Amino acid sequence: MKISIIGKGGAGKSTITSLISIYFSLKNFKVCIFDADINVHIKSIFRVNFPENLYLSNLENIKKIRTFLAGNNPRIDPKKYVKTTPPGKGSNFFTLEKENFILSNFSKEIKPNLYLFCVGSYQGETAGLSCYHTNLSILENILSHSKLKNKELLIADMVAGIDSIANSLFLQFDLHFFIVEPNLESISVYNKYISELKKTDYKIIVKPILNKVINVDDLNFAKNYLEDFLILEYNSAINKLSKRLIKVEDVLKDKKVINFLEKVKEEIKKIKVDQNEKLKQLITLHKKYIQLDYVKRAFGDLSCQVDEEFKF
Ligand SMILES: Nc1ncnc2c1ncn2[C@@H]1O[C@H](COP(=O)(O)OP(=O)(O)OP(=O)(O)O)[C@@H](O)[C@H]1O
Ligand SMILES: [Mg+2]
Repeated sequence: MKISIIGKGGAGKSTITSLISIYFSLKNFKVCIFDADINVHIKSIFRVNFPENLYLSNLENIKKIRTFLAGNNPRIDPKKYVKTTPPGKGSNFFTLEKENFILSNFSKEIKPNLYLFCVGSYQGETAGLSCYHTNLSILENILSHSKLKNKELLIADMVAGIDSIANSLFLQFDLHFFIVEPNLESISVYNKYISELKKTDYKIIVKPILNKVINVDDLNFAKNYLEDFLILEYNSAINKLSKRLIKVEDVLKDKKVINFLEKVKEEIKKIKVDQNEKLKQLITLHKKYIQLDYVKRAFGDLSCQVDEEFKF
């Protein structure tokens, strides 16, 4: 299962990512967090060091990961990976087996059953030259080349706003939790995301989480705009966590937080993962992407990358 946590800046994405991750890891799931935000906050919430040389978007790491993923797939030259390049016969995959090349070389086990990857921030030499989407393309490759088992969870703390629509990430996840605060600005970002998705033919599941609810006015306000959302109240334990006065796992002592996380678990349980359907959607997007002039100019014709026969 692959889930993403999206929403306006400051809505609570990193906090909720951390809570969901530790909750599932304690329930004996193998969990991988991908910190996919420029600001790289998860390591601080868990109070761990994360060496910058493991950042996925370091150019050397991108090369190594793409060479691994391309494996013996005759259709794919690792130098010609684009964000939508699909796996095919001969490709290697990201798995949560301890010896997996990507897991063992680029993540850090920060708790039992809980691994952290960081996409990474801007790097000095790319300042002014590149946008964060470029950094995210390696995450797109890893997600499209991942094979997960039961009780394995990938969870990505995404960059603020609705930028994931600018890349293939919106269709790489089985479920998106969209964090919304009970105010018009936050809700309008959610509405914009939903209206952009409606313009596409892709099947995307988005579940809103109304966060930092203080009173019944907040709830009634949100009900004017949202249907069927999960609720996390404004919480004093989370407030203490924000000051690093307590640890993430200590927040789980709060009954209301646990009730919320149980609801999250129910939502996750409802999802039927269909990797081959996801692959089909990716291939559809890939075929559109490789027609763009700048992609053709940079890489030539990439239509040969698609292996129509391949199935997960
Ligand atoms: N339910 C809650 N109760 C109390 N405080 C909360 C709650 N949810 C989040 N916060 C606080 O709100 C602030 C922003 O949360 P967080 O950093 O998780 O948001 P974010 O969406 O990841 O922000 P950014 O867009 O900057 O990455 C933090 O101080 C966090 O502790
Ligand atoms: Mg954050």
